[in-house]
Formats: sequence, C-alpha cells, structure tokens
Amino acid sequence: MASALPHVTAENLMKIYRRGAEEIRAVNDVSLSIGEGEFVAFTGPSGSGKTTLINILGCLDNPTSGRLSIGERSIFGDGAPLGEGMLTDIRRDIFGYVFQKFYLIPTLTVRENVMLPFVFFKKMGAEAEVENILRLLGLDKRRNHLPGQISGGEMQRVAIARALVNKPRVLLADEPTGNLDSATSEEILNLLESLNRSGKTIIMVTHEPDVGARARHPNPQ
Ligand SMILES: Nc1ncnc2c1ncn2[C@@H]1O[C@H](COP(=O)(O)OP(=O)(O)O)[C@@H](O)[C@H]1O
Ligand SMILES: [Mg+2]
Repeated sequence: MASALPHVTAENLMKIYRRGAEEIRAVNDVSLSIGEGEFVAFTGPSGSGKTTLINILGCLDNPTSGRLSIGERSIFGDGAPLGEGMLTDIRRDIFGYVFQKFYLIPTLTVRENVMLPFVFFKKMGAEAEVENILRLLGLDKRRNHLPGQISGGEMQRVAIARALVNKPRVLLADEPTGNLDSATSEEILNLLESLNRSGKTIIMVTHEPDVGARARHPNPQ
C-alpha cells in the first residue's frame, strides 16, 4: 500500500563501536528523511561509516541510539525493540539489498542465484518473476552460467536482479560500482537510473563522488 509518509526517517542516529578503550563513532548523529521515488547517495571516504549507515537504514543492524522509522512503523528508538519475526518481514517486504561484495553463490547458476530470496522466504509465484527480472536486466542469455563464467558487470546485474526479485519498495546499494571498471560502472548507473525513473526508491553509498553525483538528491557529507 502506498504511503504518503517518507519511507525512511532517521533522527540522531549514532553507531558507536567499542574496542577496548577505543571508541569508534561509525555513524555520528545522522538525521534524514527519504521519500518514495527518491534516488539518494551518501558519499564519503573508506571508513566513514557508509556501510554501517546503510545497514542500519535497511534494518540489518541496530544503531546505538537515535530513532528509525520506515513508513509509519517505528523500527528503533520508540517503545520496545521489534522482534526478529517482524524484522524479517520488513527486510523481505520493504528492502532489496545489493551488498558491497556481490555475495553470489558460486555453485548456483545465474537463475538460481536470482531465485534465492524465494527459497529463503518460501514465497510462491517465483518462476514468472525470476523470468521477468532476468529479461529486464538483460541476463536471459546468462541464465545457466555460473558466477565464475560471467563478467563483473554481469555479476553486479545478477546481484541487483536478486535484490529486485521480491519487488522491494526500496533498493539499497552498497558501493554498486566499487568492483567495476568505468564502462561497466556506467552501465550499472544507467540501470539504477532507469529503475529509479520507473519509480523505485534507491539509497546508494559510494566512496566515488562522481558516482554519488548521479543520484537525484546527492547528500554530501
Ligand atoms: N563490527 C565492527 N566492529 C568495530 N568497528 C567496526 C565494525 N564495523 C565497522 N567498524 C568501523 O566503523 C567505521 C566505519 O566502517 P564502515 O561503515 O564499514 O565504513 P565505510 O563503509 O564507509 O568504509 C570504520 O572505522 C570501521 O573500522
Ligand atoms: Mg563500506
């Protein structure tokens, strides 16, 4: 159901790691509001907390303090913490994740990798959706290849296909061009732009300012 409220609202998010006497403020007082259909990028050098932040926004990690809500639902900071069951539902229904490394399973084909969310979440209707997404991302001809038999750009497209197959409302992409040459990066950015034009909310983090500038609402740090 479409909501008029922003998808993702954060207030004063902090993430502090403690290693002995050392305190690392990976996320230091971040407040933001990301609405439906936006394409947002966070940029910053390596170690500036991008992965930590995107994992918190995607409900994969808890902040140390602050508040996070997705639509009208409070995820952190108001009332009792959500149970794992509720978090699993949110991760499955709201978000698609493209991780910094592709995390493709080397022994499964392209098609089987794209199918994985359905296997985990035991959803029906997988076949048709997998076919649609393979076509949309130009992967039909690679469907029976293993990850070791395709190019870096194709691997990233498989990772994006897998993130999209559940029809998430928000696509989270951690360094989606980080492992790719410039021509292939361009291809992936064009794909993200076209997904955003067709209505997908995208939150991306990248250490490359040029890549971040491709978002419609770049958010310099
Ligand atoms: N699990 C962890 N334990 C301790 N420190 C961590 C952990 N994860 C990340 N950090 C530290 O938090 C900071 C931000 O890391 P990260 O979010 O991975 O940054 P980025 O993605 O921008 O490179 C770094 O200093 C990193 O070493
Ligand atoms: Mg990172």
